[in-house]
Amino acid sequence: MGGPVHAHAARAARLSDRSDLTMAAFLRLALLCAFTVVLRATDDPLAVAIGHAKAHPQGDVPASFVAADYRGDLRDLPIGVFDSGVGGLTVLEALKAHDRHDNRTGKEGADGVPDFAGERFVYFGDQANMPYGNYSAVGRTDFLRELILRDVLFLLGRRHAHGQKPPVKAIVIACNTATAYGLEDIRAAVKSWGLPVIVVGVVEAGAQGLAETAGGAQGGVAVLATVGTCASNAYPRALAKVTARPVRQLGSATLAAAIEGDPSVTTPIRDIIRADVGAFLQSAAADGAAPIDTLMLGCTHYPLVADEIAAAFAYWREQTAADGRKPYATLVASERKQVNPAAWTAEALWRSLQGAKMMAVTPTSAGDLFYISIPNPAWPGVGLAADGSLSYEYKYGRQPGQVGREDTINVPMTPEKLPGATAKLVREKLPLTWRSLQMAR
Ligand code: DGL
Repeated sequence: MGGPVHAHAARAARLSDRSDLTMAAFLRLALLCAFTVVLRATDDPLAVAIGHAKAHPQGDVPASFVAADYRGDLRDLPIGVFDSGVGGLTVLEALKAHDRHDNRTGKEGADGVPDFAGERFVYFGDQANMPYGNYSAVGRTDFLRELILRDVLFLLGRRHAHGQKPPVKAIVIACNTATAYGLEDIRAAVKSWGLPVIVVGVVEAGAQGLAETAGGAQGGVAVLATVGTCASNAYPRALAKVTARPVRQLGSATLAAAIEGDPSVTTPIRDIIRADVGAFLQSAAADGAAPIDTLMLGCTHYPLVADEIAAAFAYWREQTAADGRKPYATLVASERKQVNPAAWTAEALWRSLQGAKMMAVTPTSAGDLFYISIPNPAWPGVGLAADGSLSYEYKYGRQPGQVGREDTINVPMTPEKLPGATAKLVREKLPLTWRSLQMAR
């Protein structure tokens, strides 16, 4: 990014030594450098999103918010939660179930009342544009950053495709991939907009969770995540701040989709996990990796198959090779701990809201709100697949620069809008969320 800018600057510096350079020529070069910096800055998804929202303080266009909503007391606003799709509902479930504190005193210790009992949530799943985990592999990281900022602007704003929604006092990035590629952008944007909005991401929270629950575990950490999250190295970086333990990553391109019941993935989930873990252990063994005793569930969908993941590690630990040896008996520690960042995200949010004195003060009977993105066939040039979803070529062929575009629109999510397999998962595994979703009809 800085390449051409630096090249101009270096050229300017070299030329400034030459006696035949006039002051005018030097000034022209300096201006060119500054101009290039401005051009580069306006290309950047962060700069585009910041500028777009600042240019529309009435919140009257897509991807904008009402600046006046963020002046004054924000405590009774809901908490925004977003994910690339419905996987983040596992994080919402953890938020709704979180009970680690006495609600009257704030002291540590469960009191039988969820810590966020007085709060309301607004959930958004960018289902039309998922999986986020595959954008980096096709060189569309900047476009992904724009999508993530668009999600945030949706939560901050009042507009949805069919009416109005409330603004939010906090943003929970429930998606690991979105945290990996968007956390810094979101914090920078919120700061630039001057909003006292709290931002919490799952990756930092997961790392903190590992640090606080390490117990006796001192061996290697396996981070299971999307290919994109692994490519970003967000987990190794976050973990390095809290532990010196070795970290290896296992990125899966298909597991999240398979868990959601994507019909294009025909391999059974257990077999996908077993194959992924087998390949991971093979390469770890070849590198002489330290015994692995901690598994980080670094994708929103993975807590839904936590048992299958545990079983796959147990399976490979017991496998016997042709020579009678068990090649992974040492590499896979006999006792393994799983860390689910969702519960730790809830705790990080609680601590941030408490610290900022932003917990809700007025009791409310209003239920949670749920939104989901869907393709907008009316948008010029939009490419749709036979089932009405965005075509692969269209989805992964887009360029950033148009944060307010509406090739996808955000509509209220109802249980009927969820694919059958997903609805079944939510109903069976996320009961608090399912109940809340029923009430949001
Ligand atoms: N929600 C994503 C995550 O946690 C997984 C699905 C996707 O790739 O969009 O990384």
